[in-house]
Amino acid sequence: DVDLSADLAGVRLRSGVMTASGCAAAGRELAAFTDVAALGAVVTKSVMLAPRSGRPTPRMAETPAGMLNSIGLQGGGVDALVEHDLPWLAAAGATAVVSVAGGDPDEFGEVARRVVTSPAAAGVAALEVNISCPNVANRGLVFACDPGSSAAVLRAVRAAVGDDVVLLAKLSPDVTDLVGIARACVEAGASGLTAINTLLGVDIDVRTMRPRLAVTTGGLSGPAVRPVAVRCVWQLRAAMLAGLLPEVPVVGTGGVAGPEDAFQLVLAGASAVQVGTALFADPSTPARVDAGLRSLLAERGLASLGEAVGHAHRP
Ligand code: DOR
Repeated sequence: DVDLSADLAGVRLRSGVMTASGCAAAGRELAAFTDVAALGAVVTKSVMLAPRSGRPTPRMAETPAGMLNSIGLQGGGVDALVEHDLPWLAAAGATAVVSVAGGDPDEFGEVARRVVTSPAAAGVAALEVNISCPNVANRGLVFACDPGSSAAVLRAVRAAVGDDVVLLAKLSPDVTDLVGIARACVEAGASGLTAINTLLGVDIDVRTMRPRLAVTTGGLSGPAVRPVAVRCVWQLRAAMLAGLLPEVPVVGTGGVAGPEDAFQLVLAGASAVQVGTALFADPSTPARVDAGLRSLLAERGLASLGEAVGHAHRP
């Protein structure tokens, strides 16, 4: 039997297949369709300090290549998450990875502090630090597009949570120096990296001749971004092998709809993978990816997920 467990900077997940942030809120709507306790983790929708209504609608658009969203970090705020959602996940037997966000480094730090000091913190395996939401701009800047801003956020979160909490920095594909930004994150306290957030796009309705989204731009996810995600994971792993980036786990996400998509990310260097957009079509996709990945590994004589991580880089 193939060992599909994943090691994230010292935290062991029962499976290397988890959900992606933003696509299943805090997991409740998945539970009707799939066993949330069998997932590597449920990654919760990014949460900020206060409740937020997000951006004006329409803020989702489907295209043949994938989905565009401009949600703008809608949510009930961190106190509601720790009071209602995290206890629910723990009672369901699920492992949580909590995605945290903020308008500035201090807000990120405070959100993270409230999560890790809450009574529900025992069920939280890691925090994912969302520095790459394309739909909120602080002075026009997505943190993850600048090494200094990325580092400032990671430093603030690390200072707020102490040394023992696993922090994954979620990276944007919309950058030229992915490795430089990743290095800034790790040097500032990230224990690992998640690649990628959505890719900024625009879709225009040719009937009305207007953009489909109220705010014009949105983050592209789904099948179109899968090769972009594989490229980003590949670049991070290659930089680690070349000694240009400290060796930290990479979580691959982007366009995973089946086991082969997940396997590509693993071969490129991902220690675990996330399923996002595909959940909308089929909430049991992670279970199917988990089973299929086991078969793919077994067929190739690999006994564990760990043995496959970065395999495509071998000479
Ligand atoms: O595509 C995204 N949409 N990425 C994020 O990080 C946040 C989300 C939103 O709420 O807009």
